[in-house]
Amino acid sequence: MMGSTIRRGTLIVLEGCDRSGKSTQARMLVDSLTQEGHPSKLMRFPDRTTTLGKTINDYLTSAVEMSDQAIHLLFSANRWEAMKQMEADLNAGTTLVVDRYAFSGVAFTAAKGLDLQWCKNPDTGLYAPDVTIYMDLPVDEAMRRGGFGEERYEKEDFQNKVGQVFMQLRTPEWKYQPFLSCPVAHACHWKLLG
Ligand code: TMP
Ligand code: MG
Repeated sequence: MMGSTIRRGTLIVLEGCDRSGKSTQARMLVDSLTQEGHPSKLMRFPDRTTTLGKTINDYLTSAVEMSDQAIHLLFSANRWEAMKQMEADLNAGTTLVVDRYAFSGVAFTAAKGLDLQWCKNPDTGLYAPDVTIYMDLPVDEAMRRGGFGEERYEKEDFQNKVGQVFMQLRTPEWKYQPFLSCPVAHACHWKLLG
């Protein structure tokens, strides 16, 4: 903090296929940021603790069936319901390290064959990450990791398709960059995911 200016927190997103190491890296990143004195918080999507999140969990564990469109909109709504708190945290100077975000939403549904633009629409307007880090692990490697196959989407062919959509979603900003170099003050204009 300098004078009356609070530097807003940085929105860091980790993306990738299942079992690619996102959760481990996200945890390690929050730990090291905290140790270095940067307020930071770990988040993940889906957030299975909310009412919507519980239904998403039922779908992922195959306890319920749902149309591809309906579950897609629930995943998106599960991000929208977190936006107010995320805005408050970021504006208070807390860096958010987020395990999956809208890119997963689009990649997993588009991999089922749904129209890419249709998949992007419901997440339009979410806060855009400052940095998105993609964990690029070959699917055959992911399959050797513990737990692979437990949830609905953890199948080799499907994960390969998801990986292909992730590559289509790459933008010039989607790259590794030093996250602490983000020069933003509290009066920043938020970029919107469009
Ligand atoms: P998780 O393993 O990170 O908890 O995510 C659960 C599964 O949900 C994973 O296979 C990816 C998938 N997913 C979507 O299909 N759409 C989404 O919007 C998100 C966040 C995850
Ligand atoms: Mg998983």
